[in-house]
Amino acid sequence: MKHWQSLALVPLAFATALVVAPLRPAAQAQSPQAAPPYIPQARFCANGSNGLCAIVPAYIGPDPGLAETQGYNGLYGQPPQSEKADVQSPFDNMAWQMFVALNWAASGVKEPPAQGLTQPGRRVWQTYPTVSSLFGNAPVIVGCPQALALPIFHIGSNGKGQPMPNNEEYLQAATNKPLIDVNGNWTLFERRVNEIEAQYLRAPGGQKSQTLTTRAGQQEFINKNPGGADFTSSATVPDGTNGSIEIKASWRILDPSKDDPSKFFTQNILLAVSGDSATAQPQAVRCWRIYPTTSTLNEQWRMALGSLKSVFGNYMLVGTQWGGNVEPPTPPNPIPSNAVPGMLSNMTLETYIQNYLSNGPAGPGSCVSCHNFATLVDGKTSANFSFLPGIVEPASLRAKIKTAP
Ligand code: HEC
Repeated sequence: MKHWQSLALVPLAFATALVVAPLRPAAQAQSPQAAPPYIPQARFCANGSNGLCAIVPAYIGPDPGLAETQGYNGLYGQPPQSEKADVQSPFDNMAWQMFVALNWAASGVKEPPAQGLTQPGRRVWQTYPTVSSLFGNAPVIVGCPQALALPIFHIGSNGKGQPMPNNEEYLQAATNKPLIDVNGNWTLFERRVNEIEAQYLRAPGGQKSQTLTTRAGQQEFINKNPGGADFTSSATVPDGTNGSIEIKASWRILDPSKDDPSKFFTQNILLAVSGDSATAQPQAVRCWRIYPTTSTLNEQWRMALGSLKSVFGNYMLVGTQWGGNVEPPTPPNPIPSNAVPGMLSNMTLETYIQNYLSNGPAGPGSCVSCHNFATLVDGKTSANFSFLPGIVEPASLRAKIKTAP
């Protein structure tokens, strides 16, 4: 099957669904001179200036809340009442800075926001290498004559009717299920990495023979580096050098008779599907609500983007997850404790496991906890949170996900 489609991007690197344990009722009586409620502030640019900018941030801004290690319980409990106690907003601001910079028009990174965020055409992240350019195509992809020189989305197969994960995908990680939208179209998933990560995958530490893009390379890498993969990290200042960036985007096929394309970031592509087979899935909802400070920041960021009439003002941040040691709340809560918030999924990418705990059949509904299972080809050596090296054994990529012991 080949046909034209117009596709629209649903959120991006920053995936969805913030998980917050239910808030405890606020029992404290308000004193008459109570301070005004705390409102977190958008930090629009990683260099500290107060306008939207094209700098892809390397690191979060100051976050005094991180110093408070005693009794730290993630985002459980009452929302913060001061900037000092607000541990999450620096992460959320970085997520927004990243979203904006990555969605700047690739041809206009030197242009001011009014141009860079409204010009049509490829965005910065769409110039990054695709996964298939590093790991090779699936054994079978449909050849498409490039009459109109459009980007091609390939859904590749193994030649026996099974889809493969090398190219674009329509099956979700962990569950191998599709997400079918209100119009009956399947959601498509695209993965890219920045050049810094691509270099590491091709030749970690400059060693081409240890390339993580082949089985043999990974074997050699494991022999020389028993500690596992260690992707290039970023500088520890907000506008410093970037580290490795992996992007997974989900796209909807828009139907102009039912959808309003002006509400989405869209591109025209050629969709080339090999080994298509369809089963209907139920409609999906986001299971977790957005954390209060994240919602407040969203209003500020969306207003800034909306005032430029940028289509990205229609998008919102659902949550930002980061590694942290969380003390279990009382009563103990079974969610994974190695990240804040403990659970986070993107509703369009991990639709069916949003509320799976660590003992769920497909892995936990937490980016960090699930990606923690990623290994190199021996199934043991750490792949440093990336499932990409697993593509060298595509058939078992998803089968490798194991639940916590
Ligand atoms: C239950 C397990 C699971 C959860 C939860 C999960 N992922 Fe993944 N993710 C995977 C697997 C497996 C792949 C590789 C297969 C694929 O890309 O379809 C993957 C792929 C990715 C990729 C592409 C690069 C790579 O490493 O393969 C990104 C980026 C990504 N996930 C980000 C996230 C983010 C952000 C979240 C949380 C919002 C998340 N993931 C939650 C299992 C998971």
